[in-house]
Amino acid sequence: MKHFGISQKCQSIPVLVAMAFFLISFLGCFLFNIENSKFIAFKFSTPGLQKTPKKSHDKESIEGKQKELPFLEKREEDTKHVLPLESCDIFTGEWVLDNKTHPLYKEDECEFLSEWVTCVRNGRKDSLYQNWRWQPRDCSLPKFEAKLLLEKLKGKRLMFVGDSIHFNQWQSLVCLVQSSIAPGKKSLDYSSYTFVFKIEEYNATIESYWAPFLVESNSDPPTMRDGKSDAVIMPESISKHGDNWKNVDFLIFNTYTWWLKYPNIKVLRGSFDEGATEYDEVERHIAYERVLKTWAKWVEENVDPNRTSVFFSSMFPQHLRSSDWNNPDGINCAEETIPILNMSTPLDVSTDRKVFAIAANITQSMKIPVHFLNITTLSEYRKDAHTSFYNSHGGKLLSPEQKSNPAVYADCLHWCLPGVPDTWNELLYARTMAQS
Ligand SMILES: *[C@@H]1O[C@H](CO)[C@@H](O)[C@H](O)[C@H]1NC(C)=O
Ligand SMILES: *[C@@H]1O[C@H](CO)[C@@H](O)[C@H](O)[C@H]1NC(C)=O
Ligand SMILES: *[C@@H]1O[C@H](CO)[C@@H](O)[C@H](O)[C@H]1NC(C)=O
Ligand SMILES: *[C@@H]1O[C@H](CO)[C@@H](O)[C@H](O)[C@H]1NC(C)=O
Ligand SMILES: *[C@@H]1O[C@H](CO)[C@@H](O)[C@H](O)[C@H]1NC(C)=O
Ligand SMILES: *[C@@H]1O[C@H](CO)[C@@H](O)[C@H](O)[C@H]1NC(C)=O
Repeated sequence: MKHFGISQKCQSIPVLVAMAFFLISFLGCFLFNIENSKFIAFKFSTPGLQKTPKKSHDKESIEGKQKELPFLEKREEDTKHVLPLESCDIFTGEWVLDNKTHPLYKEDECEFLSEWVTCVRNGRKDSLYQNWRWQPRDCSLPKFEAKLLLEKLKGKRLMFVGDSIHFNQWQSLVCLVQSSIAPGKKSLDYSSYTFVFKIEEYNATIESYWAPFLVESNSDPPTMRDGKSDAVIMPESISKHGDNWKNVDFLIFNTYTWWLKYPNIKVLRGSFDEGATEYDEVERHIAYERVLKTWAKWVEENVDPNRTSVFFSSMFPQHLRSSDWNNPDGINCAEETIPILNMSTPLDVSTDRKVFAIAANITQSMKIPVHFLNITTLSEYRKDAHTSFYNSHGGKLLSPEQKSNPAVYADCLHWCLPGVPDTWNELLYARTMAQS
């Protein structure tokens, strides 16, 4: 039968943790809600890009203004999405409203979603955020075919390594494929660092590994993931984690969120194992570069590029200040219901571009190929898609008092599912399937 290592007893396992400028504890038990869940066969019956152009005159009232939403129909009329996938920059494009093909699954069709991301079930009234499709400028993304991906994963392991946003993406990928697997042939196992989604008939796994800094840190152990203590890292120590990444066929890394709390980061003098407690404060970009160099070296020394595909996800943006998108009536992402659609000026939602540059630089200068998943900019437009007030911790929704205090309680860091992480996986899929 199914293995839900954590869900039955709900042992208050603090898996999903985040810290931004506001301290929000994402502790809480992690309900996978199996009691009420039912398996619903879900076909990917979504049509691809339709060839017959259809005029759309739909308008929606957005933020008090009448603006035309970029419906799919508009895009179908042009013919410029013609580059082959391999030579196309799939990360440059725009969001188009396409409720024919998106969402790719329904919230209540995926038993593996935890309550912290089921925004509609948690009371969110609008669901338009589920209907946007990423349209690259010069090509079209292949339709996500779970069966094809599962064939590709046959006898293999795919692993997301990083923080809770990567965990968010892992959940999305599990939901994207799970309906194509017969009941009883899929299960979820949990141990303190990994979530393993097992797909029996394909002898494949889709895994999530917790390492918010990639290198060793005091934020690694399960009891330390609430962000309540300041992070202390060991920038040159990675093998303890790395030993768990060996013999994985698809490795997808990220590290970002936990770096943002302070301008400097605490770097341990010595090692945790030897009981060291003294540390130096190191400017975060300097430390970030040290960490990525350690990571790059590990990859170069331990990954067989003939077997393993390596990916690095760029920064997952946050939406903490509504003034960044000229909404004087807002505070942060709370109450936002549509993406930022005005792409005529570069957007600045305070993503740390220096961190981005370091990551882009290092991943592109490695001895083995690393796919840089450049999802930062496209996600920056999606102020509407965070869990905001509609997450739930330990079965508890936010109280009305908490909802009246978005600055403290809105989660503008994690993302509702179905939603934006599905797009990250469509892009990962496009990159994965493009390989022979
Ligand atoms: C990432 O994508 C953005 C948006 O298209 C683009 O401006 C930027 O140059 C890309 N960066 C890298 C390193 O690919
Ligand atoms: C999709 O959007 C169109 C235009 O707003 C609407 O008429 C239609 O009912 C929607 N379809 C679904 C399935 O939501
Ligand atoms: C299942 O996959 C693993 C790798 O993930 C491999 O080592 C093992 O041999 C496979 N087993 C079968 C029966 O194919
Ligand atoms: C990868 O495969 C190529 C061609 O089969 C071979 O020449 C090369 O030595 C292999 N590399 C590794 C690291 O095994
Ligand atoms: C887009 O944003 C720019 C800069 O904020 C502004 O000048 C312009 O009027 C906006 N365009 C639309 C259509 O709102
Ligand atoms: C990127 O790499 C180049 C060459 O290694 C270096 O000159 C440049 O300073 C790097 N930029 C960043 C932001 O690290």
